[in-house]
Amino acid sequence: MEHNRLISPERLEQEDYPESSIRPLCLQDYIGQDKVKENIRIFISAALERKESLDHVLLSGPPGLGKTTLAAIVANEIGKPIRKTSGPAIERPGDLAAILTNLEPGEVLFIDEIHRLNRTVEEIMYPAMEDYVIDIVIGKGPAARTLRIDLPPFTLIGATTRPGLLSSPLRDRFGINCRLDYYTEEDLCQIILRAAGILNIDIEPQGAVEIARRSRGTPRVANRLLRRVRDYAMVKADDCINQKVAEKALQMLEIDEWGLDMVDRMILEAIIYKFNGGPVGLETLAAAVSEEQDTLTDVYEPYLLKMGLIQKTPRGRIATELAYRHLGLRYPRQMESNGLFSLSDE
Ligand SMILES: Nc1ncnc2c1ncn2[C@@H]1O[C@H](COP(=O)(O)OP(=O)(O)OP(=O)(O)O)[C@@H](O)[C@H]1O
Ligand SMILES: [Mg+2]
Repeated sequence: MEHNRLISPERLEQEDYPESSIRPLCLQDYIGQDKVKENIRIFISAALERKESLDHVLLSGPPGLGKTTLAAIVANEIGKPIRKTSGPAIERPGDLAAILTNLEPGEVLFIDEIHRLNRTVEEIMYPAMEDYVIDIVIGKGPAARTLRIDLPPFTLIGATTRPGLLSSPLRDRFGINCRLDYYTEEDLCQIILRAAGILNIDIEPQGAVEIARRSRGTPRVANRLLRRVRDYAMVKADDCINQKVAEKALQMLEIDEWGLDMVDRMILEAIIYKFNGGPVGLETLAAAVSEEQDTLTDVYEPYLLKMGLIQKTPRGRIATELAYRHLGLRYPRQMESNGLFSLSDE
């Protein structure tokens, strides 16, 4: 299945340029996520006051909610450089040792997709996080010995879309644990208006509301829809994005009032038509819609779950009554909790 979906919360390659220009650089410009911001603000000022490096931070949440952005902001706010890498990029313990021993004191090390670090690399990380040391084994067999190397103090910021996959020894070594949640419509509206200002896009507040409503709680999607709607406005509507223009543009892009696109609807329809509303196991469902299982769990399901369109049960995914109604279908009145049918006629 191709992945250049308009509402995919994942980053697309060609987005690098505009993304970097609208990415907020300080906590004050980071919209929403008030609890997380408050937390981080307190820990930062405490660390600055004590002149210590900031405790390690774990950022978790679905793609496109601003984990990478927040990591860069934290480094900015404590006035330290940031070095970025990712779990799968660190293949051997030696790779991690090289990165760690080259850090400047107080530097921020950002590891994206930290749940994908492999075990042997992860084990190097434990003493590094706890005591700023690493133990390296030199030689093999009876002659092997361990060399302990001191590291400069540093702050690890880990980002993950799947906190559940983190091993508990790793998770426990993060002093600060922040969970990012989907954004409210008001927050997304502000994000859209801010981005429009930077990109010089003419937009009315009601136009922003219309885009925000269909952005599935995700800033990356909001910014992307803004650009597509701008294209439409340029060609069809004298450049200005008002409510009507936004609505028409989004209809043309086949994104419905809930921000669902064709793939989301295909998933719901598969559960309903092919599997009688479920329950259906992840593997079977993934095959039915030609998606990777990970993509289904990380990218599509969180939003469908949040909107109450599907539910996870021990036996698999089911489509809720809301899903039937959203697709304009009649709900077959099955009591999904215990598998009993309701007694009413019809
Ligand atoms: N709170 C925010 N305020 C304003 N803009 C935001 C905010 N959060 C994210 N953005 C915008 O959304 C875009 C995506 O954010 P970011 O790349 O940080 O997401 P992510 O959580 O790291 O995603 P992934 O899981 O795919 O790595 C950024 O380019 C930024 O412009
Ligand atoms: Mg990221």
